Amino acid sequence: MAFSPLQVLSDAKTRGEQVAVVSLYDAPTAEICCEAGVDCILVGDSMGNAMLGYDDFLSVTMEDVLRHTAAVARGVKQSRRPEVPVVGDLPFGSYVSPEQAARNGANLIRAGAHGVKLEGAGPSALAAVRTLVEMGAPIVGHLGFKPQSSLRYSSVVQGKTAGAASRLLQEARELEAAGCIALVLEAVTSEVARRITEELSIPTIGIGAGAGCVGQVLVWHDLVGLTTPRKKPFRFVKRYADSRALFSEAARSFADEVHSGAFPTEEHGWNLPETELEEWRAREDGR
Ligand code: KIV
Repeated sequence: MAFSPLQVLSDAKTRGEQVAVVSLYDAPTAEICCEAGVDCILVGDSMGNAMLGYDDFLSVTMEDVLRHTAAVARGVKQSRRPEVPVVGDLPFGSYVSPEQAARNGANLIRAGAHGVKLEGAGPSALAAVRTLVEMGAPIVGHLGFKPQSSLRYSSVVQGKTAGAASRLLQEARELEAAGCIALVLEAVTSEVARRITEELSIPTIGIGAGAGCVGQVLVWHDLVGLTTPRKKPFRFVKRYADSRALFSEAARSFADEVHSGAFPTEEHGWNLPETELEEWRAREDGR
């Protein structure tokens, strides 16, 4: 009998512990993060910006998320911590009707996700949450800055007025009542995120929502410094490594060595045994 690996999130809230979540998209990175002690992995639609080269938050398709969720699930299984839960993100336009949400959510679970995330608390998002919960799928909500609605915003930070703060709190209550097992709060003022975390019984995972949440999530490419320098990172990003510089150096060394003939050397290839070589030469050259 398999129980939800996502229980780690609510257990953390009960115990007053913090959880680290990373949004990532491939098997080797999943393996690295599991073995490094990350508690939960999100296969977010941020893959569009971080990895697929899109400049918007809307171009990622269900096929993209399914392919990368399956890859991440394989990486987790092959790691030394195969119990780490994976949450798959429903991309823009993939949960407009409850039927569509049910079909796409089920496919994410079949691809290896232990839970499904979707954005918003409007009527169709709430209907999608209820349908998926009724199907038995653990659902993670997403409030505050919702990248899939970014065309409607004039600023990133959400919950900056008393009215906006009350609306966010009410949306959080509605998502909990609809059956969400956790909530992502993105670019939400710290006071509002803390109040939501205190009032709800489900855990909150913050990104730019202050230290009052149960967990924190960052996008892998941001945290290791792989994100293109053409894009100004959001204020909530903390870069823990400069892998762009590291990878550039490796690529430059490879190109230089190929151009100069320094790579490959004998040790990177194979030779015919001497006797076979002689026989082959005799055969080909008629000697
Ligand atoms: O798509 C994503 O990676 C996300 C996280 C940043 C929360 O939604």
